Amino acid sequence: LHVIHIAAEMAPIAKVGGLGDVVTGLSKALQKKGHLVEVVLPKYDCMQHDRVNDLRALDVLLESYFEGRLHKNKIWVGTVEGLPVYFIEPHHPSKFFWRGQFYGEHDDFKRFSYFSRAALELLLRAGKKPDIIHCHDWQTAFVAPLYWDLYASKGLNSARICFTCHNFEYQGTAPAKELSSCGLDAHQLNRPDRMQDNSAHDTVNPVKGAVVFSNIVTTVSPTYAQEVRTAEGGRGLDSTLNFHSRKFVGILNGIDTDAWNPSTDNFLKVQYSADDIQGKKENKQALRKNLKLSMDDPMQPLVCCITRLVPQKGVHLIRHAMYRTIELGGQFVLLGSSPVQHIQSEFEGIANHFRSHPQVRLILKYDEALSHLIYAASDMFIIPSMFEPCGLTQMIAMRYGSVPITRKTGGLNDSVFDVDDDNIPARFRNGFTFLSPDEQGVSSALERAFDYYTMDHESWRELVYSNMKIDFSWDSSAEQYIELYEQSVARARTGAN
Ligand code: ADP
Ligand code: GLC
Repeated sequence: LHVIHIAAEMAPIAKVGGLGDVVTGLSKALQKKGHLVEVVLPKYDCMQHDRVNDLRALDVLLESYFEGRLHKNKIWVGTVEGLPVYFIEPHHPSKFFWRGQFYGEHDDFKRFSYFSRAALELLLRAGKKPDIIHCHDWQTAFVAPLYWDLYASKGLNSARICFTCHNFEYQGTAPAKELSSCGLDAHQLNRPDRMQDNSAHDTVNPVKGAVVFSNIVTTVSPTYAQEVRTAEGGRGLDSTLNFHSRKFVGILNGIDTDAWNPSTDNFLKVQYSADDIQGKKENKQALRKNLKLSMDDPMQPLVCCITRLVPQKGVHLIRHAMYRTIELGGQFVLLGSSPVQHIQSEFEGIANHFRSHPQVRLILKYDEALSHLIYAASDMFIIPSMFEPCGLTQMIAMRYGSVPITRKTGGLNDSVFDVDDDNIPARFRNGFTFLSPDEQGVSSALERAFDYYTMDHESWRELVYSNMKIDFSWDSSAEQYIELYEQSVARARTGAN
């Protein structure tokens, strides 16, 4: 198959959260299985240019339509993690991708509808004949209606469209008239069975549009796929998803096991493996030393959390876990940052309060290198999310021998199974879970984890060992995507949807 991902993020060069990890991880897994995979990204000023190999600009400029006229784009090509990537650099006066950040701009709707249109134009002009165009989240959701409206009848006609929604909280809604900027017919599309938002009539919803117009719609775990089909979890799209349920499926993400491998990880003080976890202890001491935490007791449990600090992640429960950990005699490290000003300020206040505390450290920024050391150093990893489409940090934590303490929701529910849950076969039990989204829920799971850790070293060691051996690679999830792609291509041959 020839698969082209059109996305707003790609790890490690342009990553905000898990979306970036998934675009790279899934693409690499598909490529490894012999498929031709390419990626199209915006050329952000703030991406890590030095991690793109052979980056060069093409001689010919690409013209793409926006707001009633043609704009020129410089096209760059390069290789990221062995994957061929096209970067689009618009010569638009608004300097869409020269803003020093990936998202959070007042004109994000414009920036990404521009990009979606230019990406399709690029594929057409470059003579690409993909079997699958795979777009992700609201930023590139425009690709689905644009394809059927403007490109399926041109040379790009071979493609099937797959849309993956990584988080239904972000739907990219905007006043309907804004849709025409990228050449879509706002009048035609602002209808209840098309892109009209389910609760506001003059509003268009790109995610809804992608659900309606794609051939395949996925989200990132089976439990979340169920949750978003209910009124409580669907963020207004439950009826749309139920109507299109035949093409909607939840596939659990994997992780990139090359990028996340404690036995080859160059960010660590000492590399280690399941069969020799002595190195894990050395990383723990190294982290404590770096962060000027107490190093007196090598066995003192270290609880960590690496996250975007947004309400989804249960920020108030993360804060509670921190205080409870200290009361229980543990140490706590948080690495996170927030796009929400008042949350960032609140945590800065806490960080400041604890800046020379021997048992707590808060590092409030995005730091890839430090994240690797924290996964390796930690004994326990807390994720008290209110909802979690998939979550990757629990899988990365387990791969690094840190035991997850998670709320039973979304993809956490599909990947973390309580050590005390008799309904789960013993060999699958791998962490501590709780259901109720409150302080009591967090405390009870944390306390059980502390008891387990302090009272039974041998069982804890076995738990760490077996968790590190779990296969969280993309292998089987990529197979599921391939099956969906192939079925869809086969349906197209018979003229079906
Ligand atoms: P989400 O996509 O909702 O943020 P995921 O669990 O899917 O959550 O993915 C988060 C990814 O971002 C993981 O790879 C995690 O290690 C990384 N990450 C989150 N916050 C930070 C940070 N402050 N510094 C470095 N990496 C981070
Ligand atoms: C989103 C979700 C997260 C998921 C990630 C990758 O950011 O919040 O749960 O793991 O996408 O699919």
